[in-house]
Amino acid sequence: MTMKETYLKDYKALNYYIDSVDLSFELSPNNTRVMSTLSVRANENTRTGESLYLNGEELTLEKIILDELELSGQDYELIETGLIVKNPPRHFTLKITNTINPEANTRLSGLYLSDGAFCTQCEAEGFRRITYYVDRPDNLAIFKTTIIADKNDYPVLLSNGNFIESVDLGNGKMRVVWEDPFKKPAYLFALVAGKLDVLEDHFITGSGRKVELKIFVDPGEVDKAFYAMEALKKSMRWDEVHYGREYDLDIFMIVAVRFFNFGAMENKGLNVFNSKYVLANPETATDLDFERILAIIGHEYFHNWTGNRITCRDWFQLSLKEGLTVFRDQTFTADNTSPAIKRIDDVTTLRTFQFSEDAGPMSHPVQPKHYVKIDNFYTVTIYEKGAEVIRMMHTLLGKENFRKGMDLYFERHDGQAVTIEEFVKAMEDGGNIDLKQFRAWYDEAGTPHLKIKDNFDAVKKLYTLTVEQCIPGKSQDVTLHIPLSIGLLNKEGVEIVPTKVLDVKTKISNFQFEHIEHQPIVSLLRGFSAPVKVDYDYKDADLAVLLGHDTDSFSRWEAGQKLALRQLNNIDHHNHYFFDGLHHVLKTNFDDSAFKALLLTLPSQKYLIELGHDVNVEKIDSAYWGLSYMIALKNKALLMTCYEENVVPGDYKNTIEHNSKRRLKNLCLHYLSLLDQGELAAKQYNTSNNMTDTMAALSALTHIESYHREVILEDFYTQWKDNSLVLDKWFTLQATSRLPGTLQEVKRLTQHEKFDIKNPNTVRSVIGAFTNNFKHFHAVDSSGYSFLADEILKIDRLNAQLSSRLVEPLTQWKKFDKAHKIPMYSALKRIADDKNISSNLSEIVGKAI
Ligand code: TRP
Ligand code: ZN
Repeated sequence: MTMKETYLKDYKALNYYIDSVDLSFELSPNNTRVMSTLSVRANENTRTGESLYLNGEELTLEKIILDELELSGQDYELIETGLIVKNPPRHFTLKITNTINPEANTRLSGLYLSDGAFCTQCEAEGFRRITYYVDRPDNLAIFKTTIIADKNDYPVLLSNGNFIESVDLGNGKMRVVWEDPFKKPAYLFALVAGKLDVLEDHFITGSGRKVELKIFVDPGEVDKAFYAMEALKKSMRWDEVHYGREYDLDIFMIVAVRFFNFGAMENKGLNVFNSKYVLANPETATDLDFERILAIIGHEYFHNWTGNRITCRDWFQLSLKEGLTVFRDQTFTADNTSPAIKRIDDVTTLRTFQFSEDAGPMSHPVQPKHYVKIDNFYTVTIYEKGAEVIRMMHTLLGKENFRKGMDLYFERHDGQAVTIEEFVKAMEDGGNIDLKQFRAWYDEAGTPHLKIKDNFDAVKKLYTLTVEQCIPGKSQDVTLHIPLSIGLLNKEGVEIVPTKVLDVKTKISNFQFEHIEHQPIVSLLRGFSAPVKVDYDYKDADLAVLLGHDTDSFSRWEAGQKLALRQLNNIDHHNHYFFDGLHHVLKTNFDDSAFKALLLTLPSQKYLIELGHDVNVEKIDSAYWGLSYMIALKNKALLMTCYEENVVPGDYKNTIEHNSKRRLKNLCLHYLSLLDQGELAAKQYNTSNNMTDTMAALSALTHIESYHREVILEDFYTQWKDNSLVLDKWFTLQATSRLPGTLQEVKRLTQHEKFDIKNPNTVRSVIGAFTNNFKHFHAVDSSGYSFLADEILKIDRLNAQLSSRLVEPLTQWKKFDKAHKIPMYSALKRIADDKNISSNLSEIVGKAI
């Protein structure tokens, strides 16, 4: 396997551009023929006769014709990574015929089969697995696609753009033609062919154009596509209202497939989705599933402008489209649910996953400077930290200027492949702000720390905050521009200084507040205004005041989390501020039950590991579960009342209010189940009319050795054995159980008739889920680590994108104490020493050891 690094600094413009491409596919599962006609043009600076390089991978070349002349062996050279055409003219047509084997494509990149239907995944570098091409995002071309296929097996034939014609060829075959009028890079190409049912609707754009909407699903699944359709229409309207962006083609299609490496893909006019993020009804999907569908439908749709109309010059600019589009989908979800809850959920994801990535071997800037496999850089840093960087710009510019900056970005760069720098420049010019120092957010890896101290001068009535910034392990002279949002409260919890954004720009900054009568309590990093760690020595009593009264919901919640962390880190000492605070929350009625649920939720074990060093997993596990048990025991009656008050009677409705109530009720169930041997959970399971309540009951029961557990898991299996998405939940429940013998159970599940090692969803739901089972994955006998290493080596042969994701938990070995880090390292080493591993896996494992 080649381990060649690609560097941002080596970027060079192309020497040849492909302006248009005419593709023709003769589909067959094990031998598909691709004919590609490329119109090629030399760049101005290209010396005449310079070779043209086309990427190609796992292709069988049949024929190349240059301007009507078939090329012979002297005119071109086939190399491991592609094809070199020697001495071409400045402007020419190249006709290439090659074949591929979609059936053998287990990597799910390029053209492959998902349950017998053809589909493609071309981002980032999958198009070269279909045909020889300049497979770089800065090559923008017009695509025309012809598909010829058996009309019984593949009645639905789709590609990007507008439908041109469909012809019955008379020999049992059909030919369909699609044309995409917008120039695009090859990574946005898509083709789908199969037996699919369709849900149809339409959308009238702001300017009055009618757009046909179609969602294609496996036969019999149309009843599960209605929510996705509503989400799509909401997304389309939202982008018009908030960004002035209308959809541009006459048709927008979504296809749901079961075999998919990621969440979904924004191919122009033809989004392909992991079926997990399309198919849903109240019986099969949880409230969280519905929310994710809304977010991902939004995300892929928003890419039409931020990603497709304006795309990336090269893959180092990935966050140009991903960070920005995540920011857009977060705001969209917030507008459709509760902004406060959504913000806390997003911050939790960022701090749990991105902070730990950034403290580990895969730490990289939002704009990476080099990579081996770009697939490995579709990370929480690019996506989530990238979104935080955009959010900070929004904070610094303000809503109106942010919109002006975005408008200018669209106006300047529509139809181009651009850099992050060009985006920042547009925001600067349109938003009328200097972002010179701010740009460093794109270049610096690592989570910045803010050390904050304060001083109150009672005589001068002056309150001073001193903020020191540093990026751990980084040179002292890099200083970031950090928007630090704060407020001041008095000891009674009354806000005396409302939210103010401080510009932290120097190594040490002082901020003064005048006319302050008494020592105030500072509410820091309101709304999580920057992706940083704050170090300020709060008194317990002050945290209790913030938890009770802060006007900023994020900081209010954060105060409670800080108290919980103190209790968790000092488990034998009873912190009455924590217990009293929690008791008080439980007694109080909140307008939003979900907020109450968040206040009652402990920091996750994964987050505790992120915050620690020399981590003793057993200690964290017992602190986490021990404290949960104490909370339950001390508040049993209140939890029961809260449970009952939040039961939602009648039919399931996916509304903000009902979802919030279920969230709180099910959190109460989680605590109560630590006391009652699963009685309440069993009762809830038996009376549930929706998957949210069913899963909450099962999540509690899975840890409880009882008669109920076996009967109910069996019942659930019998009911859902033919629904693979629901069955994935069943797999996960068992893989995350704390009961003894879970690893054996997981090994049995990998042999289960419904387990398919070639399906990333199933693999993640068994093996991925098991790595979140701290008790068993981190078992001191290292059985969990060995199991994971064995599975990774098997999976790597089939799907390297998947194996290199699954290995992540092992790469965090340095975080742990000796008893764990040594066996974790050995498991990694065993993977690294295997000579046959993919370059994807080898890049990650190599960095980790
Ligand atoms: N662009 C996709 C998104 O963020 C991500 C994606 C989907 C992807 N499939 C992929 C990235 C395969 C790499 C490989 O919406
Ligand atoms: Zn995306």
